Amino acid sequence: MKIVLAYSGGLDTTVSIRWLKETFNADVITVTVDVGQKDNFEDIEKRAYIAGAIKHYTIDAKKEFADNFISYAIKMNGLYEDVYPLSTALARPLIAEKVVEVAKKEGAEAVAHGSTSKGNDQVRFDLAVKALYPDVKIIAPARIWNMTREKEIEFAKARGIPIKSESSKYSIDENLWGRSIEGDDISDPSKEVPEDAFEWTKKKNNGKITLSIEFEKGIPIAINNEKMDLVKIIQVLNEVVGSYGFGRVEHIENRVVGFKSREVYEVPAALVLINSHKDLEKTVYSPLEFRFKKYIDSQWSDLVYQGLWFEPLRETIQLAGDNLNKWVIGEVKVEIEGNGMRILGRTSRYSPYSEKIASYNKGWYPSDEMARGFIEIYGMHSLLTRQVRE
Ligand code: ARG
Repeated sequence: MKIVLAYSGGLDTTVSIRWLKETFNADVITVTVDVGQKDNFEDIEKRAYIAGAIKHYTIDAKKEFADNFISYAIKMNGLYEDVYPLSTALARPLIAEKVVEVAKKEGAEAVAHGSTSKGNDQVRFDLAVKALYPDVKIIAPARIWNMTREKEIEFAKARGIPIKSESSKYSIDENLWGRSIEGDDISDPSKEVPEDAFEWTKKKNNGKITLSIEFEKGIPIAINNEKMDLVKIIQVLNEVVGSYGFGRVEHIENRVVGFKSREVYEVPAALVLINSHKDLEKTVYSPLEFRFKKYIDSQWSDLVYQGLWFEPLRETIQLAGDNLNKWVIGEVKVEIEGNGMRILGRTSRYSPYSEKIASYNKGWYPSDEMARGFIEIYGMHSLLTRQVRE
C-alpha cells in the first residue's frame, strides 16, 4: 500500500511516518507544503527519510496561499469570533490540495495527516480531501494510536528517529499569516501566557512606528509608498510590527469539536492589514453595504474556521465580497506602539465623505423646516408604536 502523508517535520507527523510503515506495511511518501513557516526544509526532508519515507516532496505554495487564501482573509476581514485571523484554518485546505495532487500522481490508495481527534484541523483536512478526492482513504494515525506526547517521544527514540528539541513543550502551527500556540501552561486559562510561548512578537523596539498602507480593490499593494507583492508585504509587516511587540491574540475559543480551548496567536501582519482594510471599507461603503458586509464577513469566517472551505456558499459570499471590494482603493495611516494599533487617517478617491457636508464650521446646514420635517416622519414608526402601548 502506498500512503501520502502531509508532513510538517514535527513530532506527530515524524512518528506517523514510521507508524504507518510498520502498521500497514506501507510505502510512505511525505509532502511538506511551504506556506511560509520559518522551517529548514532540508532538515525536514532528511528527517522524513530517516523516519522511513521512500520519497519526499517539498512544495512552495506561499504565493498561492497569499493570492488565493490570504487575499480573501483580507477582503472578508476574516476573524473567527472577532479575534482570530484564521491563520491555521486557512492553510489546511491548501495543504490538503497539494497532498491530494501528489496522491493522484503517485497512484496512492491513501492519504494521511497528523491531526488528533480533539482538534479542528482533522475536520478541515478530512473534508478538503473528501471534496477533492472522494475515493481515497484517509488515515489519521494520531486518532488511532492512543499515544501521549511522552509515548511518541519514546517511540521515536527507540527507533533512532531525531525530533526537534522544542517539540516537547507547546504545539505550534506556523505559516505566513500567523503562528498558533497551544498546550503546556497555556492550557490553564486563569494563568498569564508565559513569555517563552512567543517568538514573532518579542519586543525588540520600544516607542512607536507609523506606517502607510495602500490598498487596491481590497488588496494591500504598498507599504510607505513602496510597492511589494502580497507575500512580501506580509513578511515585512510581521517582521517590522512584530518587533514592537504587536500582534498577540489571546482567546478562549469555541472549537468545532464541542469544547472551549485557550489559544494564543502571533499575527502582526494579519491584524494590521485587516484593521486598516476595515477602516477603508467603512470610508467607502454606503451604510447599507457596510452593514451587509459585516454580516457576510462573519459568515465567511465561520465557514473557514469550521472546515467548510469547499462549501459552495463560500464562493457566493466571495463574489459579493469581490464586488464590494472594487471600491476599496486608497491609503490608511496607522501607528503601532507595543501591542496597540491606532488609525491616524485615511484617504480614498471613492470616499463619499464630504468635509463641506460634515463640518460644523462651514457649508451645508439643512433649514429648521427641513430638519423638523425629516425628524417627524423619520420617528413616526416608533412614536406611533409607543402610543398604542401606553
Ligand atoms: N485553534 C486554531 C484553529 O483551530 C489553531 C490550531 C493550531 N493547530 C495546531 N496543530 N497547533 O485554527
